[in-house]
Amino acid sequence: MTNREKFPGAEFASARTDMPRVPDVVQASHTSKLVKLSEVTKTYAGADGGFTALRRVGLEFSAGEYAAIVGKSGSGKSTLLNMLTGIDHPTKGTVVINGTDVHTLGESALASWRGKNIGIVFQFFQLIPTLTVLENLLLAMDFVKAIPKNERQRRAERLLEQMGIAQQGRKLPSALSGGEQQRAAIARALANDPPIVIADEPTGNLDSQTTEVIQSLFKQLADAGKTVIVVTHDQTAIAKFGRVVTLKDGMVASDRQVRVEEQGSLP
Ligand SMILES: Nc1ncnc2c1ncn2[C@@H]1O[C@H](COP(=O)(O)OP(=O)(O)O)[C@@H](O)[C@H]1O
Ligand SMILES: [Mg+2]
Repeated sequence: MTNREKFPGAEFASARTDMPRVPDVVQASHTSKLVKLSEVTKTYAGADGGFTALRRVGLEFSAGEYAAIVGKSGSGKSTLLNMLTGIDHPTKGTVVINGTDVHTLGESALASWRGKNIGIVFQFFQLIPTLTVLENLLLAMDFVKAIPKNERQRRAERLLEQMGIAQQGRKLPSALSGGEQQRAAIARALANDPPIVIADEPTGNLDSQTTEVIQSLFKQLADAGKTVIVVTHDQTAIAKFGRVVTLKDGMVASDRQVRVEEQGSLP
């Protein structure tokens, strides 16, 4: 099975001939710097002058990179992800994702841009509880409209199949185990075939065996050409990443490429 068959999400890595081109979808190449943060500072306002959660962070990520962001609680990891996704605005600095200066977009342009370009996975899954799993995926596609309408149902079913939860599509999220809900959330993150997948402690609420399954799904996504950036506390997973960025007090304390021969052998 090729990666392309494994993940419908993998198609972005090669030229698509099966779909109309959507102009503002990132057309990534493996050599480009897909994500570029420059001098990003974030100060949360407060009566006492505020709290600076990120200080002049500069980071670049290439297409296809599989990166972990680690650091103690409060070091700024979630804040950093929120800058990347445009969920929150930096106080200073820029975030450019394949040529789009994310924070210059207005609210509705930003929502549409995010839907096409970034799949987001949260610790507590954040599936809509009143919709079935399939409906959660369909809603994501209906909102963004990057996938032709007549392909959405089939694509949603295929993604659930690939996540190993084909049988769960017609259930409400609450009827699924935590690991299954996270698989559903990953499927939803891939629904619009974004080039970038970002996850904030996606295994923080899962047992160790399920954690391993979820981590290996992320690894497969990166192998299939997605840029995957994961905030994790999980020490055993870190060895599997190609790169580990450590934050400390809102600054990049280290940024380490993991050599292929080291991968899987780190403590
Ligand atoms: N909305 C907010 N208002 C004020 N302070 C915040 C806000 N969000 C986060 N912080 C503070 O910023 C720091 C970094 O938070 P966060 O990015 O969530 O860290 P991490 O994800 O690494 O645990 C923490 O000290 C946190 O208390
Ligand atoms: Mg956090």
